[in-house]
Amino acid sequence: MRGQPERILIPAAEIERRIRFMGAEIRAEYPGQTILLIGVLKGSAIFLADLARAITGPVRFDFIGASSYGSRTASSGEVRLTKDVDMPVAGADIIVVEDIVDTGTTLDFILGQLGRRGPRSMKVAALMDKPARHQRDVPIDYLGFTIPNEFVVGYGLDYAEDYRALPDVWVLGE
Ligand code: IMP
Repeated sequence: MRGQPERILIPAAEIERRIRFMGAEIRAEYPGQTILLIGVLKGSAIFLADLARAITGPVRFDFIGASSYGSRTASSGEVRLTKDVDMPVAGADIIVVEDIVDTGTTLDFILGQLGRRGPRSMKVAALMDKPARHQRDVPIDYLGFTIPNEFVVGYGLDYAEDYRALPDVWVLGE
């Protein structure tokens, strides 16, 4: 039945392992530096919370909100900001934290917005990527998992606002 989690795609233990590795990888590239993580609401909230702790050392975080106009499946390609960051981006080492890259439209827009404010460096960490769906060429510097073209929920990701708190990533039933 459509709208019900059907099977686990990525178990919580595997997510935890992968994020620990990503955190160490990130810290090794920013030794001693304060990293400003910018989570894209709302799906990245849980990933950001775990990633921030896995990085260890000086980390700050903030959130940005974006939503596409009209139907997402139609992929109009038009995105607007629903919440801006509170902290200054100029001169900061920022990492944009996304739950999943689908068409890449949201990330492309957010990188454009933040990039023109003069961060010292700007990278991207995404928990999941669906390369088969890309319509934009988006750089992903730190990636958790490449997944097939399926709709997933859990670990922050929703279907009509449900299932965000599931500890594992599930495939939604047809
Ligand atoms: P994009 O702009 O097409 O890359 O879409 C990115 C956003 O769409 C993500 O941040 C998610 O909020 C949402 N999204 C894309 N695919 C999925 C999915 O499989 N499950 C839940 N949300 C998704």
